Amino acid sequence: MDSITNLLLSSFLCSILVVSTTAVNRISTTQSIKDGDTIVSIGGSFALGFFSPGSSKKRYIGIWYNKISNDSRTVVWVANRETPVTDSSGVLMVTQQGVLVLLNSTESIILSSNLTKPGKTPVAELLDSGNFVLRNADDDNPQNYLWQSFDHPTDTFLPGMKFGINYKTGLDMILRSWQSSDDPAQGDYTYSMDSHGFPQYFIRKDTVKVFRSGPWNGVRFSGMPTISSNPIYNFTFVMNQNETYFNYNLLDSSVVSRMVLNQDGVQRRMTWKEGSSTSWIEHLTTEMTNCDTLAFCGPYGLCTVSNSPECGCLQLFEPKFPKDWGTDWSNGCVRRTPLNCSGVNGDKFWKYSGVKVPDTENSWFSVSMTLKECETMCLKNCSCMAYANLDVRGEGSGCLLWFDELVDIRVIKNGQDLYVRMDASEFVLGQAGHNWNKAKTIIVILVVSTATLILGLAISLYIWKEWQKREGKTIGHPEQGYYKESKNEDIELPLFHLVTITKATDNFAIDNKLGEGGFGPVYKGMLEGGQEIAVKLLSKDSKQGVDEFKNEVICIAKLQHRNLVKLLGYCIQGEERMLIYEFMPNNNLDSFIFDQSQKMLLDWPKRFHIINGIARGLLYLHQDSRLRIIHRDLKGSNILLDHEMNPKISDFGLARIFEANETQANTRRVVGTYGYMSPEYAVEGLFSVKSDVFSFGVLVLEIVSGNRNRGFYHQDHHLNLLGHAWRLYKEDRTRELIDEPLQDSCNLPEVLRSIQVGLLCVQQRPEDRPNMASVVLMLGGEGALTHPKQPGFFTERNLLEAESTGSNFEQCSANTISTTVVEAR
Ligand SMILES: *[C@@H]1O[C@H](CO)[C@@H](O)[C@H](O)[C@H]1NC(C)=O
Ligand SMILES: *[C@@H]1O[C@H](CO)[C@@H](O)[C@H](O)[C@H]1NC(C)=O
Ligand SMILES: *[C@@H]1O[C@H](CO)[C@@H](O)[C@H](O)[C@H]1NC(C)=O
Ligand SMILES: *[C@@H]1O[C@H](CO)[C@@H](O)[C@H](O)[C@H]1NC(C)=O
Ligand SMILES: *[C@@H]1O[C@H](CO)[C@@H](O)[C@H](O)[C@H]1NC(C)=O
Ligand SMILES: *[C@@H]1O[C@H](CO)[C@@H](O)[C@H](O)[C@H]1NC(C)=O
Ligand SMILES: *[C@@H]1O[C@H](CO)[C@@H](O)[C@H](O)[C@H]1NC(C)=O
Repeated sequence: MDSITNLLLSSFLCSILVVSTTAVNRISTTQSIKDGDTIVSIGGSFALGFFSPGSSKKRYIGIWYNKISNDSRTVVWVANRETPVTDSSGVLMVTQQGVLVLLNSTESIILSSNLTKPGKTPVAELLDSGNFVLRNADDDNPQNYLWQSFDHPTDTFLPGMKFGINYKTGLDMILRSWQSSDDPAQGDYTYSMDSHGFPQYFIRKDTVKVFRSGPWNGVRFSGMPTISSNPIYNFTFVMNQNETYFNYNLLDSSVVSRMVLNQDGVQRRMTWKEGSSTSWIEHLTTEMTNCDTLAFCGPYGLCTVSNSPECGCLQLFEPKFPKDWGTDWSNGCVRRTPLNCSGVNGDKFWKYSGVKVPDTENSWFSVSMTLKECETMCLKNCSCMAYANLDVRGEGSGCLLWFDELVDIRVIKNGQDLYVRMDASEFVLGQAGHNWNKAKTIIVILVVSTATLILGLAISLYIWKEWQKREGKTIGHPEQGYYKESKNEDIELPLFHLVTITKATDNFAIDNKLGEGGFGPVYKGMLEGGQEIAVKLLSKDSKQGVDEFKNEVICIAKLQHRNLVKLLGYCIQGEERMLIYEFMPNNNLDSFIFDQSQKMLLDWPKRFHIINGIARGLLYLHQDSRLRIIHRDLKGSNILLDHEMNPKISDFGLARIFEANETQANTRRVVGTYGYMSPEYAVEGLFSVKSDVFSFGVLVLEIVSGNRNRGFYHQDHHLNLLGHAWRLYKEDRTRELIDEPLQDSCNLPEVLRSIQVGLLCVQQRPEDRPNMASVVLMLGGEGALTHPKQPGFFTERNLLEAESTGSNFEQCSANTISTTVVEAR
């Protein structure tokens, strides 16, 4: 008996001792947090205390980032979101039973639920991850939590949290939006995992599902193409018999990132760099187009953002209610021919590539089956409507089967393959094609007649305006000057009709898709005369008027340089904006320098010619053209090669050319690609000509070494290509960087000079990097070469690793205009 008392007493004393020395990050049963007190985690990342959100006077217990200025305090967790304290009498305590309680002057509000195994010496501690935990001070395992705030988040998904369901404990982690910025009480939206069929995540407004992540496919969620390797965080999806969750971890302790479900039901990822003056930078998590709205096109519909309207039926399906189709798509489509269902010969599958797979609520899966077995399995059950690989990595593996109607299929960047069941008779040669062609003909006729009508109207309007001008009447339009000035240029640049483009690209067939640029997809096409073209669709969310677009087109048309890809014309039709470029037969630089056999075709003189060409093209954009343009997404895949292997910069900052007063509206979204982005841009969103110089430097080193910066691997160290080149340079072993096939053809002084110029361009500080004029001189052997300083982003190999699919990384930045993009001269 005595010994037990002693033990209790000593542990009690012990806990008091511990508390009194490190009282800043935790409270024991003998302590409390009063309004005005804060506790700070050991590493100083988070603080916990009382606060009032926005203009509210009510008091809440919350956790916020301690290192971010108190003016823009970012609260990541609220303990009593539904039960605020009305005055400053609140006190947070831990009871002897291990229950967290919040008391006001009259009554107590209990925060944590009863514990199953109350501790002897409970302490509540704020960890540096932002997790507020309750544990026994004398527990040998400090990670044995009795309770943790990470299991009960509010609207913020922090690194280290497990977003999902624990089947053992029954814990279902749900993010719930705030009511408003003044009121953390639960708002309209929730975000959580749904474990029916194959797990997916849904954002719901009240009980209505509004967004679906799609199933995890081994690389990302099928409907979230923006999830990809990046320098800020890594991520995993875990699925076993005990639990299923998504989780991410930060890679650089000085960069903070969080995911939040906003009051408008949109998930946003926000990033902030320690010591930076700018506020949170937003990264795009979902696009929020109509196609992101759950089941926008109804059952068996196919949503395509670049189409107008977005909804179509799956191949050989037809609208369920043709009369409504065109205004309301929610009823979707039905089969033209019912399924036969008589086993192996009765039905076949139609393959779709590059899509977000349908809702998996009624699905079945197997991790071990092959695609062939998957097909056989699907044919055996008449309610099986489609199948796909469960995991798309490599050749693909596993099997996912869909039963019931297929909903929420869309064409998406980084999409996957889906096989949809059809009656075999639809595949009989001729018949299917014939009917399909008939349908197409009807569509084309419809489009043609509509287009003609619109064109007719446009022409009459134009003639009317011209007539008014001649008559000397005032039009009273602000754009009057614009029309006058641009009249002649209009003639220089042809306006293509949508019908012409639709025909040339075979109705924007997926097979004709060349890739995805910063502003939208690019398709290959052939005009009637046989001229090959590349058609770039501009995404509709650029929110630009027709006049501004035309103005931009005219600006670009003025950019004439042999190292820039040539614009042939444009097309405006309703919401659609397209640019028509010359087609480049030799594809892009990436396809040569990173391909083991193709790279043999590029000897040193050719590579040096390409480096110089890019430099001159960039110099023109930066200095010599009539506008100042910052490209912002310079990379190998944007350097196209003509039949003589002349480099042509493509995808140049089109939407970024505007007049000063329009700048703000259009610079909210900043686009670039990891591995080529300068540090100040990737982390802080700051942009200048020197960021292009950085990207150019990366390109030069890639061209010389034949290695990608992203995903570069060396057995001796963990540096990326920049770090590796810098290390060789410092050790006077620069020659070792040179690509194997160049060893014979190279002019050594020229190569070494190029490497040094490359290193000068990728220096950490923008002000240390040369401008393009000096680069051109230095490459030509004129101008003195200084010694480069340490490059930016050189140790963070993992940070720069991105998949070879290299999805663009888009971010919205709320910071000022002057740091971004284009300056009109
Ligand atoms: C915020 O305010 C608290 C208390 O006034 C102070 O201790 C802390 O250093 C401040 N944090 C920052 C980042 O200014
Ligand atoms: C204390 O909380 C109770 C329950 O929420 C509330 O009814 C009471 O008015 C509060 N008292 C004060 C002084 O805020
Ligand atoms: C905790 O348990 C006690 C006794 O079983 C009960 O009275 C109380 O309501 C419980 N509190 C909560 C928050 O569940
Ligand atoms: C993510 O990064 C953390 C910290 O660097 C590391 O411990 C973890 O293993 C990484 N996880 C994955 C899935 O790569
Ligand atoms: C599931 O939980 C049990 C017991 O808690 C444990 O033994 C097992 O290893 C867990 N399985 C996985 C895959 O984590
Ligand atoms: C189903 O397909 C089989 C094999 O092609 C054919 O013999 C049978 O008549 C079809 N049944 C129906 C109902 O179409
Ligand atoms: C087909 O699959 C559905 C859904 O899994 C199941 O309910 C049904 O029993 C299956 N039918 C046959 C014939 O196996």
